[in-house]
Amino acid sequence: MTSVSPIRHPRRVKAAFIGPLAFALTFVMCVFAVAIYLVEASVRDRDLAERSAAAGKLFEQKLAKDANLMRAVLRAMTTNPALEKAFRDGDRDSLARQTGPLFETLRAEHRITHLYFTGIDLINLYRVHSPGEFGDAIDRITMKKARDQAAAASGLELGPLGTLTLRMVTPWQRDGEVFGYLEIGEEVEHLIDEIRDSLTVDLAVLVDKKFLRPEQWQRGLDMMRRSGDWERFASHVALAQTSEQLPAAFDRHMLGDLLAGRNAVIEDRGRSLHVALVPLEDAGGRHIGELVVIRDIAGLQATFRRSIMTVTLVSLLVAAGVLGIFYVALGRVERDYRHKHELELQVLRLGTEHHRILQMEKLSALGTMVGGIAHQLNNPLVGVVNMAQLAERETDNPQQTRELLGEIRRAGEDCRAFVRRMLEFSRISCFDSKPTPMAPVIEDTVLLFRQAEDRHHPVEIRLPDEQVVLMVDPILIRHALFNLLLNAAQAASGDDPIVITLEAEADPDTQAKGWTLAVTDRGAGIAPDVLEKIFVPFFTTRSDGTGLGLPVVQHVALLHGGHVSASSEPDNGTRFALWLPMAPTSKST
Ligand SMILES: Nc1ncnc2c1ncn2[C@@H]1O[C@H](COP(=O)(O)OP(=O)(O)O)[C@@H](O)[C@H]1O
Ligand SMILES: [Mg+2]
Repeated sequence: MTSVSPIRHPRRVKAAFIGPLAFALTFVMCVFAVAIYLVEASVRDRDLAERSAAAGKLFEQKLAKDANLMRAVLRAMTTNPALEKAFRDGDRDSLARQTGPLFETLRAEHRITHLYFTGIDLINLYRVHSPGEFGDAIDRITMKKARDQAAAASGLELGPLGTLTLRMVTPWQRDGEVFGYLEIGEEVEHLIDEIRDSLTVDLAVLVDKKFLRPEQWQRGLDMMRRSGDWERFASHVALAQTSEQLPAAFDRHMLGDLLAGRNAVIEDRGRSLHVALVPLEDAGGRHIGELVVIRDIAGLQATFRRSIMTVTLVSLLVAAGVLGIFYVALGRVERDYRHKHELELQVLRLGTEHHRILQMEKLSALGTMVGGIAHQLNNPLVGVVNMAQLAERETDNPQQTRELLGEIRRAGEDCRAFVRRMLEFSRISCFDSKPTPMAPVIEDTVLLFRQAEDRHHPVEIRLPDEQVVLMVDPILIRHALFNLLLNAAQAASGDDPIVITLEAEADPDTQAKGWTLAVTDRGAGIAPDVLEKIFVPFFTTRSDGTGLGLPVVQHVALLHGGHVSASSEPDNGTRFALWLPMAPTSKST
């Protein structure tokens, strides 16, 4: 007996794959987003660093440009003989007269703030910007450099009062002999204002406190009527700045961080400010402080945030899309998988069911068969027993006894005939097919039937005009047709003829070509509940029937690769159709 194997639940493909896939995707997307963030941040920082460096460079260019102007002015003055004479004569009045208007023009148009005439001994002869002060020794770096190198020297100089001045000193010589020095200078504050205007940044000049003394610095502030905060930074002090106030967050810690090269972005009143330091050197090459470049990077930050958000959003969308596609695909796989699994289960169940039905059918066929045989043999045997009892009682009457014995013999012969028919049925599988013209087979059978059947029922044969030759066993076909005719005659009541037809017809299932040999009667017909059992061996509704006629017909049909069917309307007759496939040798004439 087959048993159903325990049902395995189909694997949940989607659940098994989607989780790890989502995890892997999230990981990849996170790595991607972080990478993009780092790249964007480094691009932003490089951009900021470049812009700050540009501010430093611009500052240097402006210094160089102003130094050129100063050089031109000094050259013009040193080549002026009248001025030279006044200088050599130590004539301050003449110097004042000759240089006063020029200095005023330079101050107004080129922000020149200092102009000195200094002797060969570095003792100041005359200050055009401050005529009352003279006679002091000038020991500034530019002056010493000009003396030592006997050539023009320029650069930033930090004054004791906290002023940062671009100075240029040129030796004044005639015939290779230096007889004094001319010095010109400008405060650099206006330069940072110009840079602010052209680069839209804020700037401040921070100077290292070690180059200043607080009292002098304070004196300088007082002189220029300015305010300042010596304590704001630990190491530096602001000398000049383009904005009213430095951002509050820009304190000593911040400056410490910046000097250490750290964190350069501060938040100030809702603005994001990037702060960078450009080192400032004086004429002697000393690192005296820092030029602070402060840039509002709100726009840049917004662009940065937007691009990061866009990347994140696109990443999320791509991840969701990929996940969606996989979800659908895996859903399909899972559905197919379940479907297949269910089909397998169904096949398994059907197999079991089919096996059970076959068993039941076999048992029921066996039951019908045994019932049929028992019925067929029982009737004559009951007769035999009864008549034997009667014969026992009638031993005195030999005539009666003989008749009874005769009856007993006939019953025995009936039994033997029944057994013979059963044997014939079992032998029917001997099958010898050959090309057979159908018309003679049908006509011979009808002839035989007329002789065997005592009621001489009319039979009508309707054959096609053409000669039909089929690949069949003529003996078996005759046998089958005979059984059909016999049944029809047994069912027919009036004089309506039994009709035999042979018609070309395709198999309704396979569409294979073939011929249908049909026997139609006008008898009582077959009730639907009987109709479904008539092909079961030994099923019969007749007291003298064997129930083997139609099983023989069916067996013959199957041996030929054909089939038999019955259609019946109660009270209107029955039609049995034996369909046989077209033999390769069949031909039309
Ligand atoms: N032409 C027919 N008209 C009505 N009933 C029929 C016809 N042919 C067969 N049958 C029914 O089918 C049963 C089985 O027929 P069959 O196998 O030939 O056995 P039997 O003729 O020995 O009864 C018959 O008993 C009868 O009830
Ligand atoms: Mg019969």
